Amino acid sequence: MKIIADKHELREQLAEWRREHEHIAIVPTMGNLHAGHVSLVDIAREHAERVVVTVFVNPTQFGAGEDFDSYPRTIDKDKRRLKKTPADVLFVPGVETVYPFGTEQATRVVVPGLTEHLCGAFRPGHFDGVTTVVARLFALVQPDVAVFGQKDYQQQLVIRRMVDDLNLPITIRTAPTVREADGLAMSSRNAYLDAAERRCAPALYECLRNIKGQLLAGSRDFDVLEKSAAEALATAGLAPEYVAIRSAEDLAEPAPNCAKFVALAAARLGQARLIDNVVVDA
Ligand code: PAF
Repeated sequence: MKIIADKHELREQLAEWRREHEHIAIVPTMGNLHAGHVSLVDIAREHAERVVVTVFVNPTQFGAGEDFDSYPRTIDKDKRRLKKTPADVLFVPGVETVYPFGTEQATRVVVPGLTEHLCGAFRPGHFDGVTTVVARLFALVQPDVAVFGQKDYQQQLVIRRMVDDLNLPITIRTAPTVREADGLAMSSRNAYLDAAERRCAPALYECLRNIKGQLLAGSRDFDVLEKSAAEALATAGLAPEYVAIRSAEDLAEPAPNCAKFVALAAARLGQARLIDNVVVDA
């Protein structure tokens, strides 16, 4: 696996692959890689001959007072982990490569509507930073395929919308959430949990699984299901931001006969903000 920081070197490598008519997949990450990221690389490799993993902690998607400064930066460990995967290139651009005119003067990509509720309501501007950086990484890597995790359900829908709206010739693949043995979704931010918090954390997935069970059993009393899940989270020691049952297709408020639901939740636990979701095929 080659490690590249320079965009000209990256372009030469991409041109070489293009001459061989090879397809290119991108796995954008902010590093501190775990088994969930490795699964994204494996899925990327199923859909393209070449895989570029990017590690870039994107300043524009963090709000004031969020964890940009403390976000775990573990590049040496990440390099070792990626060596055991089918990644061809680890692209580690500096901020001056991703934002040549600086972050304040950056051209922005904004997806309205879909970004304004759920996580977007609690992290104003977050998704604007995500779409802005993902569009830039797409411009640098020019992939045929991009892989994102289902854990960030709203994020992958927002990116799909951006790609459709800008007619970008990129196929978005969404990879299943990888979980710890007790059900907690893997996340770089789990590192913020102390031992006692870590024991409480699986309550997030438990409450979503409980909603799934009730939806499959025929309940359509969405408000009651959401409220009792939020109460269960609070009882378990988490501070819920939201628990929401939505249409899996577009995160709209679901009709009772909706074909596919998604139950999503976000909660604070100590220094961590945890998110998770389950899709329910009704
Ligand atoms: O999901 C993430 O890790 C980030 O939001 C992403 C997609 C790499 C953009 O910085």
